[in-house]
Amino acid sequence: MSDTSALYHDLVHSRRSVRKYDHTVPFDHDAVARALTLATLSPNSSNMQLWEFHRVISDDKRQLLAEYCMGQNAAKTANELVAFVVTPYKWQSRAQLNASQVRQAFTGRDDATAKRALKYYEKLIPFVYRNDRFGLLGVARKILTFCLGLKKPMVREVSKADLRVCLHKSSSLAAMTFMTAMRAEGYDTCPMEGFDSVRAKQLLGLPHDAEITMIISCGTRSDDGIYSERHRVDADDVIFNH
Ligand SMILES: Cc1cc2nc3c(=O)[nH]c(=O)nc-3n(C[C@H](O)[C@H](O)[C@H](O)COP(=O)(O)O)c2cc1C
Repeated sequence: MSDTSALYHDLVHSRRSVRKYDHTVPFDHDAVARALTLATLSPNSSNMQLWEFHRVISDDKRQLLAEYCMGQNAAKTANELVAFVVTPYKWQSRAQLNASQVRQAFTGRDDATAKRALKYYEKLIPFVYRNDRFGLLGVARKILTFCLGLKKPMVREVSKADLRVCLHKSSSLAAMTFMTAMRAEGYDTCPMEGFDSVRAKQLLGLPHDAEITMIISCGTRSDDGIYSERHRVDADDVIFNH
């Protein structure tokens, strides 16, 4: 094992979901900023970066958000809470940004690769990301891809609901990068989906169409901060070779 893989192995093994943090240990909020900067480098669907990271640091807001996290210890005892949020309504500006970056990268080139890349952000992305309130466009896309899929391989996940899954996948990857980076900084985290999303969104001033993927608490584990041994099913039950 190389030094790097040994280091990563230790990081993954030492990350646990911590439910109780020790406030006698000083907490460096800059570590959160650094870890979030790394999180922005996470892979994400079509590089649309339809995510936001909302830090809750002040005592009063943190306590309120902890209450909205159903009063979980992991939230109540944290030094900081970070909400990982998806922002589907920003798709147009992100598609334009990607298209202009493609244009810049391919300046002076008029080849098939350049054309394909531009078409991706100017035609395909709008086709898949545009949605109406009731998801009817998505249903139409679903029917279309079903028909086209009878003849050739097709991406089938094109409904409004599929898009939500797509955005939460990317946001979750950022969350994982963040938690690993926090561990590398010597701190602990706990990802939480047990929260009142309506109240949490209100507190963070998020628009109706934003969704919180998870809220991650941060701090230093207390001696009794990990509730049990780590249990996982056998690798044979989840890893399959084809
Ligand atoms: C999407 C997601 C949501 C979770 N929500 C909560 C939660 O609300 N409260 C909590 O205490 N732990 C929560 N967890 C932590 C899991 O319980 C924990 O990851 C699992 O038991 C494995 O333990 P480990 O993280 O220490 O390896 C969540 C984890 C994930 C990935």
